[in-house]
Amino acid sequence: MSKKKILITWPLPDAVMARARSSYDVIAHGDKPKITIDELLATAKNVNALLITLNEKCRKDVIEKLPENIKCISTFSIGFDHIDLDACKARGIKVGNAPHGVTVATAEIAMLLLLGSARRASEGERMVRARAWPGWQPLQLVGQRLDGKKLGIYGFGKIGQALAKRARGFDMEIHYYDIYRQPPEKEKELGATYHDSLDSLLKISQFFSINAPSTPETRYFFNNDVIEKLPQGAIVVNTARGDLVKDDDMIAALKSGRLGYAGLDVFAGEPAINEGYYNLPNTFLFPHLGSAAIEARNQMGYEALDNIDAFFAGKDMPFKLA
Ligand code: DGY
Repeated sequence: MSKKKILITWPLPDAVMARARSSYDVIAHGDKPKITIDELLATAKNVNALLITLNEKCRKDVIEKLPENIKCISTFSIGFDHIDLDACKARGIKVGNAPHGVTVATAEIAMLLLLGSARRASEGERMVRARAWPGWQPLQLVGQRLDGKKLGIYGFGKIGQALAKRARGFDMEIHYYDIYRQPPEKEKELGATYHDSLDSLLKISQFFSINAPSTPETRYFFNNDVIEKLPQGAIVVNTARGDLVKDDDMIAALKSGRLGYAGLDVFAGEPAINEGYYNLPNTFLFPHLGSAAIEARNQMGYEALDNIDAFFAGKDMPFKLA
């Protein structure tokens, strides 16, 4: 029996490509830096399923232009804000994501941002690389310790919980807000205190971590009103999605000192980030590194392929979105 054809829009780790090739006739986009939507639509005519990434913005107009033979899309990401699920449903296209592989890797990056922001790591690095280090000084790049500080986690899904576990290792006090409250055993295990409103969480968050998905409800929630409710000089980290933050408000608050520091892994409109961030000393900026660990990327690939395997076997996708 001839193999089904799938399009993989970006080169994925070797182990993932090997598994994909063992089951499918793979059209891989190759090493080009970015597949365009036109290229995707043209190639889609010759395949039975698409394995995409968060770079391919599959908005309504794109989904509507997909050829009829596409009935399966699997995304190499936990986030699915780049796919119009309603448009997929309307076309009878099954969609799945890769929800588990990212957890630990993203929590690690959130922890790194918390620690690096508190201890001004990137300022120190920049000083050394600029050959501008005058030598040890008592008041040079003095930050603050994490222990005993209150960490507010907004969004307490798998990544938020994995961050709580790690932050506890640094003796932080864990607080969270989510629309879903965890069972008492889970709160006890993570030493996490639940807040029944975002306002209540904000009030105590000396450190605030954004771990919620991008949805119409959360988009741009982090604005002046929210900032005003945080303690003076709070440190904010975002490893979720850039469009949860109103950049102009965040930048103004970092400039005025209302916010102490921001550690950011994600940006609205990335990679074209708001110009205001570039020259702010009190920022620790990463290029969306959350899941960039080989263990995570392999698992993400396997999860994305599990969806496609299930689809061709006539079963429900294990990580079904639509
Ligand atoms: C995801 O999977 O959505 C992440 O943002 C990728 O790092």
